[in-house]
Amino acid sequence: MSEAAKALYGIIGNPVAHSLSPVMHNTAFEMLDVDAEYTLFPLEADEVKPFFDRLHEEGSPIFGVNVTVPYKEKVLDYIDILSPLAQKLGAVNTIVVSKDRKLTGYNTDAPGFLTHLGQLGFKTEGKRVAIIGAGGSCRAILGTLCMIPERPEAIRIYNRTASRVEALMEDLGERIDLSIVELVHDVDDLNIELADLLVNTTSVGLKEEDPLLVDEENLHSSLLVYDLIYRPARTQLIRAAEERGAQTANGLDMLFYQGVLSLQHWANMELPEEVKSAMKAAIERELAHD
Ligand SMILES: NC(=O)c1ccc[n+]([C@@H]2O[C@H](COP(=O)([O-])OP(=O)(O)OC[C@H]3O[C@@H](n4cnc5c(N)ncnc54)[C@H](OP(=O)(O)O)[C@@H]3O)[C@@H](O)[C@H]2O)c1
Repeated sequence: MSEAAKALYGIIGNPVAHSLSPVMHNTAFEMLDVDAEYTLFPLEADEVKPFFDRLHEEGSPIFGVNVTVPYKEKVLDYIDILSPLAQKLGAVNTIVVSKDRKLTGYNTDAPGFLTHLGQLGFKTEGKRVAIIGAGGSCRAILGTLCMIPERPEAIRIYNRTASRVEALMEDLGERIDLSIVELVHDVDDLNIELADLLVNTTSVGLKEEDPLLVDEENLHSSLLVYDLIYRPARTQLIRAAEERGAQTANGLDMLFYQGVLSLQHWANMELPEEVKSAMKAAIERELAHD
């Protein structure tokens, strides 16, 4: 980490106001006794390039950045070095700024998701997966599931806007073997009743009144329902899945693991277990206020 007085880290996106990353990372900085602060960088689209111009300048106090919606793909244009994973996925959520102001982009969403799946005891190999959505988070999840040696047997994907999921598959397909993926144009064709894992990568569920996108009847007890949303902790999808006896998980641990991996990139070290526990406790405390 930087030796400069008060190194700055932060998250760019729009919106970022409700991000849990500041509380998670500032807790870690305090425990690690580093003079650093993690803050919010809300950016409009026309502010992104100027932000990166300043980031490249000598004397900038910023040494690390997280990227969230809607800029995870756009920032590739401004990065000097891409990790092999970020390059394959075409999405960056973590940027390390070196002392000579070179920017390296990583994707920690994908390993964050996989780490949590592992924690849940879910083995991806040979499984049938259904995915809803085609946004930035879907890119990481679909791409990584197709890249890992323990590939699922089949992945069905559905998105409200067909052109978006087609474009996503076309782009990812240039670098990743998507032969196990079948795009469906009706949510019922996801065959959730036969699936082992259902992942909601859409933002549907963020609001209490949001509809259930899938037929409740198709949720079943040998299914893991993974909703990337963590606020609210129990979306309508999670509640419906619980009622049908499915195993469920929200996105909180994915957020936590991606945050741990981001900080490990910035600090260039493995985080001690007690720091990780404190980061987790900090976001859980924050959510308990909701
Ligand atoms: N847990 C974590 O660490 C983590 C990480 C990343 C994201 N997330 C969460 O994942 C969610 C998606 O993030 P993202 O970055 O992928 O967002 P995004 O790029 O904006 O994509 C949004 C997706 O939601 C779909 N959608 C939105 N409104 C819909 C509706 N009314 N009916 C059907 N589909 C709808 C969109 O479909 P169309 O293409 O049809 O518009 C698109 O597929 C957010 O809630 C975010 O908080 C969690």
